[in-house]
Amino acid sequence: MKTKIVAPTERNLKLAARLIKKGEIVAFPTETIYGLGANAFDSKAVKGIFEAKGRPSDNPVIAHISDYEMLGKVASKISDFEISAMKYFWPGPLTFILPKSKELPLITTGGLDTVAVRMPSSKITIKLIKLSGVPIAAPSANISGRPSPTKAKHVFDDLHGKVRLIIDGKVSKHGVESTVIKVEGKKAIVYRLGAVTVEKLQEFFEDVDYVKNGEIRAPGQKYKHYSPSIPVIFVDSNVEKKINSELKNLKGTAVVLSVVPLKVNCKVKIIGKDTRSATRKLFSELRRLEKSFDFIFIVGLKESGFGRVFNERAKKAASKVV
Ligand code: TXA
Ligand code: MG
Repeated sequence: MKTKIVAPTERNLKLAARLIKKGEIVAFPTETIYGLGANAFDSKAVKGIFEAKGRPSDNPVIAHISDYEMLGKVASKISDFEISAMKYFWPGPLTFILPKSKELPLITTGGLDTVAVRMPSSKITIKLIKLSGVPIAAPSANISGRPSPTKAKHVFDDLHGKVRLIIDGKVSKHGVESTVIKVEGKKAIVYRLGAVTVEKLQEFFEDVDYVKNGEIRAPGQKYKHYSPSIPVIFVDSNVEKKINSELKNLKGTAVVLSVVPLKVNCKVKIIGKDTRSATRKLFSELRRLEKSFDFIFIVGLKESGFGRVFNERAKKAASKVV
């Protein structure tokens, strides 16, 4: 199969929608990262996503919707409080775990009786869902275990020959996945941190219960994640001393990703001027640097706001934490 990267023109979005209606898979941009999508109600098509990515079948995908009518088709028993939370955060990078509808196939939910749903803010994604006329089930458009794609080129590198069409929406705005939550009473239980920070959730919810010690809540969290093809070492204290000491035992070239300049015996790349831009660039830097170095050090950020999100992704990408 030949893979084409196309601009998000009306004509190309209509072509993509036709493919989705026919039961094919299509890669598309969202405001978080790129997704690999299929009709959420088409078991065979959703199976195609798992096969293309090499994704374990017990790891459910997210149902992307364009309006509240579609919400009723994929989920059930939605409370008024959940609707008001959706109205506060949608369209945007917050995913809600809800009881699934009877009609939604189990393959979409990884065999669970709940479904993860989100209404994206990207105009391209919304248009694609509307033209398709069905909720689009989509995980990130990368080979399982690799850093999530934030550019069309990243999707091509991982999935060429496995998907017919990649819609190019340029660089993803957030560069990190949505935050996944379940609402319990007036509380948000965070299953996966992401583009909506804990602090932002606290603006709406009375209480926010987020993962602090690597505890696994979403099925996807138990698998290897976000890893480039070369080893990543995560450092978050005595940074210069630890990096220089590690370097003595490494054979090959190393680079450090940091938000502040450092005095170390290898190249330092300033990844961003603040925690938000560092998070946005993390995945694309991992994919860029794996081509020209043998090792990557990532320096941890302060555990708040996007720093917390950055650290979570960087630690998962790492083969070693020092
Ligand atoms: O921003 C995003 O969320 C992107 C774009 C494409 O929307 N999608 C994405 O999908 O990151 P994926 O499949 O890479 O991550 C979905 C996460 C996984 O950790 C999965 O285990 C969890 O959500 N998840 C999905 N359904 C769930 C459910 N019913 N219960 C608990 N966790 C669920
Ligand atoms: Mg993913």
